[in-house]
Amino acid sequence: MKFEAARTRMPTTVTDMLVVSSITAVREAVGEARKAASRIGFVPTMGALHDGHLSLVERARREAGFTVMSIFVNPLQFGPKEDLSRYPRPVEHDEQLARESGVDLLFRPSVEEMYPEDRNVSVIAGKLGGDWEGASRPGHFDGVLTVVAKLFNIVQPDVAVFGRKDLQQAALVRALIRDLDLPLELVVAPIVRERDGIAMSSRNRYLDSTDRTRATALSRALRNVKEKYQRGERNVAALEAAGLEILRTEPAIDIDYLAVIDGTTFERPGEADERSAAIVAARVGTTRLIDNVMLADDQD
Ligand code: PAJ
Repeated sequence: MKFEAARTRMPTTVTDMLVVSSITAVREAVGEARKAASRIGFVPTMGALHDGHLSLVERARREAGFTVMSIFVNPLQFGPKEDLSRYPRPVEHDEQLARESGVDLLFRPSVEEMYPEDRNVSVIAGKLGGDWEGASRPGHFDGVLTVVAKLFNIVQPDVAVFGRKDLQQAALVRALIRDLDLPLELVVAPIVRERDGIAMSSRNRYLDSTDRTRATALSRALRNVKEKYQRGERNVAALEAAGLEILRTEPAIDIDYLAVIDGTTFERPGEADERSAAIVAARVGTTRLIDNVMLADDQD
């Protein structure tokens, strides 16, 4: 019996995960892994890991023989009034989750390692970087793409796995890879949700229980848009109205945007089609949350 109890507490996979903080050490470890001729998979994160992040690791492990995860809270992508200093950093717990989920190499650099004081060059996101999330968070996507380009060059993965939770980020990473001819494949994995529908996010832990309940209005609003679409509604304004109707039942939610857009270009079409997504951003208390849903597929 004792043995049984101990065994059920064991993680499902135990690997010998290497934890490094220098760029040189990543290059060495990945170089070694390549000798075994396996594909290198990569999952970049800012830590405070949850099942959404771990689903990306699972996917990377299906795609590649060696999986690298980075944990780096990237100051470049935070605005002056954003939550950089209070962003959660549960270092030990993250390391444990990464190890249990089968990460082979965890890269956890310092800000100094990533950004020497005399750095000069960065990546600019272009027009798509200024819409939607970019309009609310000026410079955010330049910061994201700069760190992602650096991480891609450090790790040199064959395949990188991102989450559709950040749909616009995924579209911009796709553009980065295409426009700068980076030699890797991008996989965009589905959104992992809590039981009540709310999309998992490191920022959910900022919500108190009242706001946590209120926050379910975002996914309920998106579900309503999707249901309207699946019952045949194609008019974008009518679809958006179906979402706003739900969001507005929660007066404590400060809506930034709710829109039906093309999931690749992020343009707002007159009529929705199988490429369309509904996207939402809103502040619940002091916490800004985003979510999205593809209207035509049967995911989410
Ligand atoms: P972070 O917010 O930590 O997210 C890391 C990755 O996890 C992203 O690709 C994100 O889309 C994915 N993710 C987050 N929540 C998810 C969920 N509920 N379901 C599925 N995937 C989810 O995104 C970033 O960090 C940063 O901008 C980064 C790309 C690391 C650059 O700094």
